[in-house]
Amino acid sequence: MSIRKKLEAVKGDITKLAVDAIVNAANTSLLGGGGVDGAIHRAAGPNLVHECRLLGGCKTGDAKITGGYRLPAKYIIHTVGPVWNGGKHNEPALLRSCYAHSFELAQSKGLRSIAFPAISCGIYRYPLEAAVAIALDETVAALRRGGSLERVCFVGFETRVHEAYVRAINALAID
Ligand code: AR6
Repeated sequence: MSIRKKLEAVKGDITKLAVDAIVNAANTSLLGGGGVDGAIHRAAGPNLVHECRLLGGCKTGDAKITGGYRLPAKYIIHTVGPVWNGGKHNEPALLRSCYAHSFELAQSKGLRSIAFPAISCGIYRYPLEAAVAIALDETVAALRRGGSLERVCFVGFETRVHEAYVRAINALAID
């Protein structure tokens, strides 16, 4: 299957998606928060935080995996994006690293489908277009390396985020 056919921009709530794994834009405590993190913890139920407590937190740019509990998704990959601080504090490399580590975990579990929210683009204020470009660049690189993934969804909860993914996917110079 071509790489382009594996990419999908989805509008809506990531907690509703029946994919092998959804990615959570968490914080370093991994114990929950606002935004998509809060929505995932609410939808997954209280056993999620019990498993998260055993993980000992997560560094910015890294990722850890748990079960999906009450979600339709089998797994949750928790990653911690950078807080945007003007762009000279290693933010692009850290955001790239979130995607790279998430793909590493997904491939190591042999997952076939994964859905990402716009990591860092909410409370952490990363500029949307720049973040979407990094998300797609790392995704294409991961899919080029091969492995189990057949479907990568980019979930836009807000219309402007969804539209940014659609534009960026359409503009990709790939098959
Ligand atoms: N489904 C998909 N996307 C969503 C959903 C949802 N249900 N809800 C929000 N978004 P944010 P960050 C979008 O703020 O910027 C938390 O408190 C949202 O519109 O959730 O990485 C953590 O604990 C935005 O486009 O994550 C951290 O402390 C995107 O998800 C901090 O926020 C990311 O926004 C992380 O901030």
